Amino acid sequence: MTGGAGFIGSNFVRYVLEHTEHSVVVLDALTYAANPASLEDLPADRCRLVVGNICDGPLVDRLVGEADVVVHLAAESHNDNSLADPMPFVHTNLVGTYTILEAVRRHGVRLHHVSTDEVFGDLELDDLARFTESTPYQPSSPYSATKAGSDLLVRAWVRSYGITATLSNCSNNYGPRQHVEKFIPRQITQVLSGARPRLYGTGANVRDWIHVDDHSSGVLAVIDGGRSGETYLIGADGERDNRTVVETILRLMDRPEDGYDLVPDRPGHDLRYAIDSTRLRTELGWAPRFTSFEDGLADTIAWYRANEPWWRAQKAEAEARYARTGQ
Ligand code: NAD
Ligand code: DAU
Repeated sequence: MTGGAGFIGSNFVRYVLEHTEHSVVVLDALTYAANPASLEDLPADRCRLVVGNICDGPLVDRLVGEADVVVHLAAESHNDNSLADPMPFVHTNLVGTYTILEAVRRHGVRLHHVSTDEVFGDLELDDLARFTESTPYQPSSPYSATKAGSDLLVRAWVRSYGITATLSNCSNNYGPRQHVEKFIPRQITQVLSGARPRLYGTGANVRDWIHVDDHSSGVLAVIDGGRSGETYLIGADGERDNRTVVETILRLMDRPEDGYDLVPDRPGHDLRYAIDSTRLRTELGWAPRFTSFEDGLADTIAWYRANEPWWRAQKAEAEARYARTGQ
């Protein structure tokens, strides 16, 4: 798999080791977003980390040639960074995915491509609509545009070259081992650092939260039962506006619910995401296990409280980046 030292990747490796008999080789460039500590305690006979870039053709070719299935998660993943400097997103998300595709084509290896609901653009706040597998692509940010492009490359390689590949598009993940630049861990670690949470704009934007372990079980369901060339949406009916999420974090951490600051909005900020996961549930029998967002959030807060050495070094660096935009 690629990107296994990042947030979803490291949780996915753990999920696979716990729920299957498989062994995993992780290819990861260890960018700023990775944390090798996320993989440190895993059994060496079932999980091997190869430090390298998914744009390195010969390396990717060798590793793909040794694999039964390739699960592709490596990406530049943060919207705010893509607005400040889009080039790494074009390189990793497009050229990197192309490099993986050419290797699976040469070796006839099955691919699963992990993608995002952001490829669909956004929904109105007062609309009842949700994204489905047939929603047209309309990405807003450099990040989501490069993820949309990577999905289209995968679909083209299935149709034109006959590779075997599935795709999944998931909503916003939360849980342990997420970089502190992202919304939920940023706010939790603000409070743990004695600072106030930072809410973009008015906090009205809506995200559809899913626990990272439910994303992992959804990806495994698609790898096991998904049909090549098909896309499956993964979501757990977790819609919340950002203000509600911040207030919930503050309450769970015994702080006043209004103890946050409003900061400048993200340019082009998507209003609302919402996933209709009927296909995954009915065709592949998947269901989320984390049905209480508050319980999942409380577990996540407890994880960051107990694991300060994991996140402390990232925090100053991430806040220095936000300071440049006043966010
Ligand atoms: P992350 O930023 O936490 O981790 C990305 C990992 O990829 C890091 O370990 C990084 O070192 C690695 N990486 C980056 N560029 C690389 C390169 N050129 N070569 C090799 N490794 C490289 O990201 P995440 O939040 O865990 O997201 C993982 C995947 O899931 C991404 O494809 C993302 O688009 C998708 N996704 C994320 C979410 C979410 O809520 N976080 C939701 C849906 C889909
Ligand atoms: O929908 C899936 C996507 O979710 C993934 O594809 C991306 O990789 C992942 O980063 C995430 O994208 P978002 O842009 O939705 O996530 P982020 O955590 O950056 O922000 C979530 C919401 O919170 C968004 O509306 C912006 C807002 N926000 C974010 C930060 C960091 C704030 O209000 N304050 C903040 O400090």
